[in-house]
Amino acid sequence: MLRKPKSASKKRPPDRILRKMSNGRSPVPTKSLRLAVLSSGGDSPGMNACIRAVVRSATFRGWEVFGVKRGYQGLVEGDLIPLPLRSVGNIIQRGGTILGSSRSADFRTSEGRRSAFHELSALGISNLIVLGGDGTLKGASLFSKEFPVRVVGIPCTIDNDIPETELALGFDSAVETAVECVDKIRDTADSHGRVFVIEVMGKVSGHLALETSLAVGAEFALIPEKKFALSKLVSKIRAGIDRGKKGSIVIVAEGKKPGLSQIIAEQLQKHLPTEVRHLVLGHLQRGGSPSRLDRNLGSRYGDFAVELLSLKKNRVVTVWRNGGLGYVDFAKIEGKRKKPELETLSLIDRLSI
Ligand code: F6P
Repeated sequence: MLRKPKSASKKRPPDRILRKMSNGRSPVPTKSLRLAVLSSGGDSPGMNACIRAVVRSATFRGWEVFGVKRGYQGLVEGDLIPLPLRSVGNIIQRGGTILGSSRSADFRTSEGRRSAFHELSALGISNLIVLGGDGTLKGASLFSKEFPVRVVGIPCTIDNDIPETELALGFDSAVETAVECVDKIRDTADSHGRVFVIEVMGKVSGHLALETSLAVGAEFALIPEKKFALSKLVSKIRAGIDRGKKGSIVIVAEGKKPGLSQIIAEQLQKHLPTEVRHLVLGHLQRGGSPSRLDRNLGSRYGDFAVELLSLKKNRVVTVWRNGGLGYVDFAKIEGKRKKPELETLSLIDRLSI
């Protein structure tokens, strides 16, 4: 099984690429052990494929797997269930996470994390695989510093803002969903000659907005990483109308809290003769069947995380770079946010004249 294609060898590799790994036929021999897997924070498409891979890969090695229900909250409360081989059948195509998720306030406290450690110890578990975004991985890092638990993180977030990896699990599917929705809205925008301001998720990261904007041929993309002038947006739309454009699409990244699209739409309406409408895509983007890419990325990440545990790696997160798997220490991603490529904004602008 090739983890890194030769063509990518000149590019900067992940901190440590594992070159000698088991090839699916001969697992690295390790003593039987118990591990737990959890998903925390916002769910993302592909998590189920990843959980399936963890269970299958660990079972293949003769290990026992427990699933933690409801993310860190379930860990604090000892809500763990055995995950035998067949428990993950027929889930590779399902969105969400069969384990459930939460944003746990208790796990942010030291008492909460101590309770989580006791619950794991009571079951003889000292290996943990954690699926989630920046907050979840931060929690995983802290937990593994405080207690003797070996932890491997897997980046899962539709925001795609985890540093060191090109792809967080779920991003590709969320972009596909957003694109499908915007394509539908474009039909109405063109039929009625309207401007639609469409808000996508991503918190303070513009990755989802940028990728969606390029794919739908949006007239404008507004992202938190780049200041914008309303006057520029107004002139672009006016110029388009003058050149015979029917409808226009403006994609807005939500920012700190949802609602920005409404404000932008109201401002725009004051300066445009055409009707302006707004729409928040919201949680639609997190649901649904994962794309082929996310299913396979989830399978690879899950299998690789088990492999990393078998090699006694600790406090590391799986990454995808230059077409291959790798891993970096938690320290490399802590307190950082991956920035989108701002050149994409100019490309979107050039192509939508
Ligand atoms: O981090 C993933 C994400 O979907 C963000 O894009 C969004 O801002 C946030 O989660 C929404 O969180 P919740 O589902 O808790 O409202």
